[in-house]
Amino acid sequence: MKKVLVLVAAMLLVASTAMASSVVLSKHNLQSTFMTGTNDEVCVFCHTPHRADITVANAPLWNRANTDPTSYYNSLSLSAASKPGLVSSSILNSDAPLCLSCHDGASLTDPLVNPPNQGTVTWAGAMNANANIGTALNNDHPIGMIYADVNTAKDLSFVDTPTSGINARLKGGVMWCSTCHNVHDDAYYPFLATSNSGSDLCLDCHIK
Ligand code: HEC
Ligand code: HEC
Ligand code: HEC
Ligand code: HEC
Repeated sequence: MKKVLVLVAAMLLVASTAMASSVVLSKHNLQSTFMTGTNDEVCVFCHTPHRADITVANAPLWNRANTDPTSYYNSLSLSAASKPGLVSSSILNSDAPLCLSCHDGASLTDPLVNPPNQGTVTWAGAMNANANIGTALNNDHPIGMIYADVNTAKDLSFVDTPTSGINARLKGGVMWCSTCHNVHDDAYYPFLATSNSGSDLCLDCHIK
């Protein structure tokens, strides 16, 4: 009986985490589609344990040369807390330059900052056009603002504390690309932090 209970508990645990996947099984394992070299590491295309590029203040042991955005989202209905002049420095210290080091459509095959010691890294292939968002962020969802400041301004209606785990993805309270995306897990394509079925991801923050 005890064994059965343990089994049932284990099955429930598996069922509740069944959607979680791994970077190893995703397209962010660049070995699978973008390499012909003999190195078989996964993390190395983004992280290195030593001599990482730390020019972006908040970069986690980054192994890529950064690509800075060239412009920022602006609009008449954007609150003061989100205006480009205020948020541009925080965008430069977000993960955007890290994402753009591959997603600008030009830099994917740039050499790694600290190449691996085992095997060779040989770039092959190119990203599909959908994955190339360019360096101009003026046509992308705004990032870089402090969510709480925007919520206080009440120019738009916001959920006080973003739901579905999104709140924990605000980095120091600031919106990053990784607030909406989870680069390590493609369970919710395209690398979304949570399901966007019925636009749930949007409604985790916006009251609409
Ligand atoms: C395609 C690029 C990419 C790959 C591949 C990648 N990471 Fe990351 N990693 C990031 C980015 C971007 C962040 C910062 C955003 C965040 O915290 O989710 C990050 C953050 C982290 C962090 C700190 C925050 C956290 O989420 O725990 C750890 C630890 C980490 N990565 C470990 C790994 C390991 C281990 C691997 C390989 C198994 C790996 N990463 C593969 C891009 C990548
Ligand atoms: C080391 C390079 C690299 C970095 C850094 C990187 N990505 Fe990617 N990403 C890729 C590749 C390669 C693909 C697969 C593109 C394809 O299918 O042609 C991809 C796919 C994606 C996709 C799916 C796009 C599609 O058309 O299927 C999303 C979304 C995405 N990445 C978001 C991010 C975000 C957000 C960051 C930063 C937090 C990031 N990536 C950092 C290399 C990278
Ligand atoms: C407010 C949430 C949010 C933020 C912030 C965000 N994204 Fe996305 N992103 C999405 C959603 C949702 C999709 C899927 C759109 C769809 O399928 O309709 C997506 C799709 C993508 C794609 C696939 C191409 C496409 O147009 O569908 C890439 C690449 C990508 N994001 C990269 C980034 C990068 C890099 C950043 C930061 C500069 C970023 N995203 C910031 C929500 C976000
Ligand atoms: C993590 C919280 C969060 C999520 C998730 C989110 N947004 Fe936003 N969104 C914001 C913030 C903050 C702003 C900036 C608003 C401001 O400054 O007034 C914004 C701005 C916008 C704007 C521009 C408003 C303007 O005044 O120009 C639109 C449109 C928008 N979001 C749509 C979406 C859509 C569609 C989704 C889902 C794909 C989404 N958002 C997901 C927080 C979020």
